Amino acid sequence: MKDFIAVSDFSSDEIQDFLDLAVNLKKEYFKKGNKPLFKGKVLGMIFQKPSLRTRVSFDMAMRHCGGDALYLSPSEIGLGKRESIADVARVLSGYVQALMARTFDHAHVVELAQWADVPVINGLSDYNHPCQGMADALTIIEKFGKKSKGLNISYVGDGNNVTVSLMHISVQLGWNMTVGTPEGYDVNPRAVEIAQAIASKTGSKLAFVRDPHEAVRKANVIYTDTWTSMGQEEETAIREKIFPPYQVNAKLVSEADRDVIVMHCLPAHRNQELTDDVADGPHSVIFQQAHNRLHAQKAILARLFGVA
Ligand code: CP
Ligand code: NVA
Repeated sequence: MKDFIAVSDFSSDEIQDFLDLAVNLKKEYFKKGNKPLFKGKVLGMIFQKPSLRTRVSFDMAMRHCGGDALYLSPSEIGLGKRESIADVARVLSGYVQALMARTFDHAHVVELAQWADVPVINGLSDYNHPCQGMADALTIIEKFGKKSKGLNISYVGDGNNVTVSLMHISVQLGWNMTVGTPEGYDVNPRAVEIAQAIASKTGSKLAFVRDPHEAVRKANVIYTDTWTSMGQEEETAIREKIFPPYQVNAKLVSEADRDVIVMHCLPAHRNQELTDDVADGPHSVIFQQAHNRLHAQKAILARLFGVA
């Protein structure tokens, strides 16, 4: 596979292999620093939207392994506006050894990958967020160990890009997934079909409910994300009326498994989808999860470069 566009493009074994490598690279980094696996390589990072974690963790992943990264802001590239996506892809392929792109439209990252000669990594589109999904799975495995098969993962809130990657990686790894969303904010139906096809092979159970309380029953993981994703800002007021019953607060957490962990991809809108006491409380793993972006992405880069 040349690119990393969706976790569902890979088999369960391949996903497990990425995660095993991420565990090893993380251990190596904290023990003696990473080997210069990416020496002589530069990652071009195309951003059409803001970012803290994706931008900094990819940049540091490259530097820790002896490579470099170049940030290309929305105003510089004007992807598909100043210049066609196909031309941007072919020009950049002569300058850098891989591309990471955060686009609004999923079709744009796919088109970039079609035209680029170098690997293209999806750094979040309106459809999915595969690098986040990898870091999420790494965090869940760290918390529950390798015998995590059969865990209950619950997502409550907006059925968005983060939900898609979490759902796909969960069923790939044999975890059960329950999604609790209000009507009109369901997960992309095509992504659900893909998840169902994977689940039928791995034995994972998938459920879609409206009631957030039902969604978190027996949950080992409660996951939420912003009610309003980047690009949906004009819907903020209506969303703020619809989503409050889906807030992850102490009451909702108390209805899950006693040892439940609470996850959020960040940035969090504190005291909207996630209350301060939960975000900063004993069940929360949100910062470990954010830090794992670094390690998961080193594994993705290493496999795409073919250097590990
Ligand atoms: N979780 C995540 O992708 O964060 P950023 O938008 O800050 O990159
Ligand atoms: N769903 C959010 C995730 C941000 C990392 C968004 O797309 O804005």
